[in-house]
Amino acid sequence: MVNTVINLSDPELWSRSDLAELIDGARSAGPVQRTEATDDGPVWSVISYDIAAQVLKNPAVFSSEQGSLLGTGEGLTPAGAGKMMALCDPPRHRELRTPAMAAFSPGSARVAAPGINERARTLFDQALACSEVDLVDVVSALPLAVMCDLLDVPEGDREMVVRVCDQAFLGRTAEERRAGHQQLIPYLLYQVMQRRLDPGDDLISTMATHQVGGRLLPVEDIVLNLDNIVVGGVQTVRHTASMCLLTLARRPDLWRLLQDESVDMGGAVDELLRWTSVGLHTLRTATQDVELGGQQIRRGDRVVVWTWPANHDPAAFSQPHEIILDRSPNRHLALGLGAHYCIGAPLAKVELGALFSTAVERIAEIKLLGEPVYNRSLINFGLESFPVSLVAR
Ligand code: HEM
Repeated sequence: MVNTVINLSDPELWSRSDLAELIDGARSAGPVQRTEATDDGPVWSVISYDIAAQVLKNPAVFSSEQGSLLGTGEGLTPAGAGKMMALCDPPRHRELRTPAMAAFSPGSARVAAPGINERARTLFDQALACSEVDLVDVVSALPLAVMCDLLDVPEGDREMVVRVCDQAFLGRTAEERRAGHQQLIPYLLYQVMQRRLDPGDDLISTMATHQVGGRLLPVEDIVLNLDNIVVGGVQTVRHTASMCLLTLARRPDLWRLLQDESVDMGGAVDELLRWTSVGLHTLRTATQDVELGGQQIRRGDRVVVWTWPANHDPAAFSQPHEIILDRSPNRHLALGLGAHYCIGAPLAKVELGALFSTAVERIAEIKLLGEPVYNRSLINFGLESFPVSLVAR
């Protein structure tokens, strides 16, 4: 085992073939370590499962209000702090999460499942008709369509909304993404105002008409939260799906297990979520002096929970670097834990299950055409492009 000092905030680290060895080596320096984060200055890095869970379950001591992700810059607070559910602590957090909860319940995900399965089948049938495809584009189309359903985007606006979301969240350059946002925000704002006047039973209407203490939520807060939901729903599914399919493409033995239905797809989705852990980190800020994993944390210090190391911690998972599709129990942190546990988790699992079931049902082999290109993101680590040819079953 190598005992090296590694910079966890270096995006190059996470695509290294010796990642497991490097992280295992870093564990000897303790579960909580000082990291000089490239854009954000000094932070405390948590790399063990138990301490990660301790941080995520305690929003009173480890707050989200100063930001939940690296990248804002040292000492800076992101726009939307205190207004978006991801950037609020209880009790404000609950006020913003409650109106969205019905749309994201396991029951709602079950109702949406047949339509999502049908969409996944169409996407892979179209992909199979092409001699070469970029699998990132194939899988991205699903969360974009699901998002339009969730927001009940009028039929005539769908093409535009998909294009704008695609640009805002999946654009390849910062300018492209900014331009997409500049169109998405006014569109959401207009929809919130419309649905206040004529509400339906969709997510936008529910949030637009929700009252706290007899008062409607501010329109700005609703738009920011819808934006939060769209970004949460599109990028994460895209990157998890493409990373998992890359993993499966390289492991024909696992592909066969799924094809034979020797393992339950629900369990397999959880294991692939754990193993890939594409949401690489979660940020919190200490609200008081506190001891954590042998380190003295001061009020105002920033604490980063690194999901991949926590999900590959040998103290929490036996054979953590193996993909065991029927692993049980599997209490991974890929979808978070505690108050901020991913609101879209049931929907995400339906989407991933639909993509993987359809892929193994329709495709005999995914042939890689060159090396996949990684996106170098610390937020949703994944693939920029994944060119393949698909061999039909
Ligand atoms: C594989 C896909 C997904 C992954 C890996 C993922 C991951 C996560 C994680 C780790 C958190 C916790 C963040 C924190 O503690 O600060 C989170 C929260 C959240 N996710 Fe997801 N997510 C996924 C899919 C989705 C989907 C499909 C949606 C919506 C359509 C969504 C919307 C959200 C929102 C709004 C939050 C904030 C919840 C809160 O603060 O209460 N996510 N997600």
